[in-house]
Amino acid sequence: MELDLASIDKDVWREFEAACEVRDHDLHYLSLATLSYDQVPVSRLLVLRGVNAQERQLIFHTDIKSDKWLELSAHPKASILGFSERAGEQYRFNGYAELLAPNSDINQIEWDKLSLWTKNTYCGGPPGEETHAPQSGENMKDAVPPTPEQLVKGRARFGVILFKADGLDWFQLKRSDNRRAIFSYADQGDIKSAKWINP
Ligand SMILES: Cc1cc2nc3c(=O)[nH]c(=O)nc-3n(C[C@H](O)[C@H](O)[C@H](O)COP(=O)(O)O)c2cc1C
Repeated sequence: MELDLASIDKDVWREFEAACEVRDHDLHYLSLATLSYDQVPVSRLLVLRGVNAQERQLIFHTDIKSDKWLELSAHPKASILGFSERAGEQYRFNGYAELLAPNSDINQIEWDKLSLWTKNTYCGGPPGEETHAPQSGENMKDAVPPTPEQLVKGRARFGVILFKADGLDWFQLKRSDNRRAIFSYADQGDIKSAKWINP
């Protein structure tokens, strides 16, 4: 029986939905690739914070002073890469990022979900700026919670990246029988086209 592409796509998005809930899920950390100001591809890992399978959206959090935020402001097209060792599958999404600034409703909803310690990560110096060397052995127990003033500053730095997938390049490792398929998504999220391609 032929494998059904629509079922594969459904399973993929179900896995991503599960991945944002479970810390040790293979797809909890995904790579986001952007284009730098000098046109060099740059990638980094991000925690997958939310998924809207219907709309083909993946949600991430970051600092609006980070390079990625500035890069996406200038060039919203981006690529997301994940690998599930358990399934033996690689997922490469192409799409674009909508940046939800601190004054947006969704941004507020995402901020409200964070623990004080996670909020604290937005309260330090701007990302990428030189800082002092950390003390060895520093850990959560020694960390000081942010003051209300620091929290206000951190709140103003919190950004939400809404990545909208236009398509998916799906690759399954199968020893001598690797499989690969390409999906493209319509604006509303339906599958516009899907086809098998040679790996
Ligand atoms: C496992 C892991 C998860 C990470 N998650 C996030 C995240 O959710 N948001 C974020 O802004 N940075 C996260 N980082 C740090 C980024 O990978 C990156 O180093 C940092 O944000 C600076 O990126 P930029 O200079 O390209 O903007 C994570 C790093 C690791 C190793």
